[in-house]
Amino acid sequence: MLNIIVLISGNGSNLQAIIDNSKSINVNIMAVISNKANAYGLQRAKKANIPTIIIEHTNLSREEFDRKLVLSIKQYNPDLIVLAGFMRLLTNYFIESFPNKIINIHPSLLPKFKGLNTHQRVIDAKEKQHGATVHFVNSQLDAGKIIKQTQVEVRENDTAESLANRVLEKEHILFSEVLKDFANAKNN
Ligand code: GRF
Repeated sequence: MLNIIVLISGNGSNLQAIIDNSKSINVNIMAVISNKANAYGLQRAKKANIPTIIIEHTNLSREEFDRKLVLSIKQYNPDLIVLAGFMRLLTNYFIESFPNKIINIHPSLLPKFKGLNTHQRVIDAKEKQHGATVHFVNSQLDAGKIIKQTQVEVRENDTAESLANRVLEKEHILFSEVLKDFANAKNN
């Protein structure tokens, strides 16, 4: 079993896909941590009987927040920390606390379109291909080593929303594929 902690900030549809696939990909979600108390993903975790932790960042410096986060993750000693729609920049302190153990999913074909609003930016740039990337997290935004990507064709009548929906469907598959590879690597 690959033991993971999932970090979220919002809807948690990627989390849901991991929950749904967890048995077949040999993944155990030890806990879900959110920096937002109202993140819908927390409901998804509770429904699946996964422990949830809320660490809000109001009144905390980046470093203070990350120290809290590191402390609570260390209690679990996970194999991997999975950022699934976790909308917060992490400090070097956090990243260096878990070397090669933090992965993120980003909705673009990195290194293109780092940062926010990727779907609209892809449409504005008249790209023909879009997609998503799972990558290791380092100290630069969306710039860590790429693990795996999935492609989506941009249609002429696409809006940011229609494109986002198609990318998201592919994200759900991609994330589980990557986690399955990590689980297999652990067992070998
Ligand atoms: C996804 O598009 C992911 O790539 C990005 O944030 C979104 C999270 O969606 N980092 P969800 O919360 O998993 O539904």
